[in-house]
Amino acid sequence: MNSPALLLLPVLLFFRRTAANSAEEIPWTYSGLVGQSDWSQYFPDCGGSSQSPVDVAMAQTKYDPGLSPVTPLGYSQHGNQPFMLHNNGHTAVIELPEWMGLEGLPWLFTAVQLHFHWGNGGSGHGGSEHTIDGRSADAEIHVVHYNSELYPNMSAAVAQRNGLAVLGILIEAGEETNPAFNNIVNYMSRVRHADEITLIPAFDIRSLLPKNLGRYYRYNGSLTTPPCHQSVIWTVFHERLRISKAQLLKMETTLYSSRDGESHRMLLQDNYRATQPLNHRVIFASFSAESGKELSSGEVTAVVIGVMCGCVGLAVIVRFVVKTIRFFKLLHRETVVVNSSSSSWDVLHNNRPAPMPRGKNQEKSEETKQDLALSTTSEAERKAEPSPSPQTEP
Ligand SMILES: *[C@@H]1O[C@H](CO)[C@@H](O)[C@H](O)[C@H]1NC(C)=O
Ligand SMILES: *[C@@H]1O[C@H](CO)[C@@H](O)[C@H](O)[C@H]1NC(C)=O
Repeated sequence: MNSPALLLLPVLLFFRRTAANSAEEIPWTYSGLVGQSDWSQYFPDCGGSSQSPVDVAMAQTKYDPGLSPVTPLGYSQHGNQPFMLHNNGHTAVIELPEWMGLEGLPWLFTAVQLHFHWGNGGSGHGGSEHTIDGRSADAEIHVVHYNSELYPNMSAAVAQRNGLAVLGILIEAGEETNPAFNNIVNYMSRVRHADEITLIPAFDIRSLLPKNLGRYYRYNGSLTTPPCHQSVIWTVFHERLRISKAQLLKMETTLYSSRDGESHRMLLQDNYRATQPLNHRVIFASFSAESGKELSSGEVTAVVIGVMCGCVGLAVIVRFVVKTIRFFKLLHRETVVVNSSSSSWDVLHNNRPAPMPRGKNQEKSEETKQDLALSTTSEAERKAEPSPSPQTEP
């Protein structure tokens, strides 16, 4: 990390503090005092009818063929300037440069930050906010953007309808380490306590997104934390990001929601909100239930074998047709040779069949033709009976 970047820190801190509105000063929590059931007393929008997160009941989603893949803009052009990682007491936040954005929605959106929601390291409930068919994932990433076509900045957009677009990426923990995720978890110990900030090397944000950005759920919802403004166009990807169990555990056990030196140390865990009623909202899917079905490895094998058998069958048919045509051409040629009194080579030459379409076959058929010509000529010379079956190829 270079020293100019370090010098910037107090400036960034200053802007962060002045940008914080008074609503953020109310010390809300996930459970306990001002826990999620109390949020709406202090933040009226949290009691609204279009809240997030929600459960995605796949059978109840509506396929919308008009939903094209979302396109991240500049996610991979991270440049050399470090990113700011911040423990805000509720989650770990990475501020994103303003040249990153999102295309593929009705407006252009500009990236603001990304943050995480997780569980408590136990084997009970997962830590994702959105659930699919009632089941949580292990954790969830939210990449927050504001509508930069309609609004000049995040603060102006945050409470407006269609003001924000958030990408939701469900995280599944397994055996394999995700190198991209190390760009974050390896630095979390630098921001153990609430309000701590550090600079981390810039990295490719696209690598935190699933490979397939074409399959997602879309609905109108809200911020999942106070003040819960109902301003978010949600995109929750169907494909999950895989990290290792060790990486998940590190994220779940490194941070505190309490400040440094506070007597009551509180681990920052289970920072996910319960799913909210859909009320009359519809969740749209960018893919149909059928195409959304994952193929099992058995099904994949079946498809591969089927395609191979089909190809072999087709090759056999083509070969049979070609042979039959050659057979009749040969019959015709022999007749000509036998009836001709002039040079049989000339006649054969003029009767050359049209070239075969593909290179290899063409070479082969050329060879065969030569053989045929020779044998026909000698047969013609010997005035043998016209019995053509010189083809011995399988
Ligand atoms: C955001 O835009 C509004 C409206 O133009 C402006 O009043 C406000 O100062 C801007 N806020 C920031 C933090 O730039
Ligand atoms: C969200 O609400 C807008 C109205 O502001 C509506 O046009 C749009 O279709 C809704 N989108 C979804 C995904 O429900």
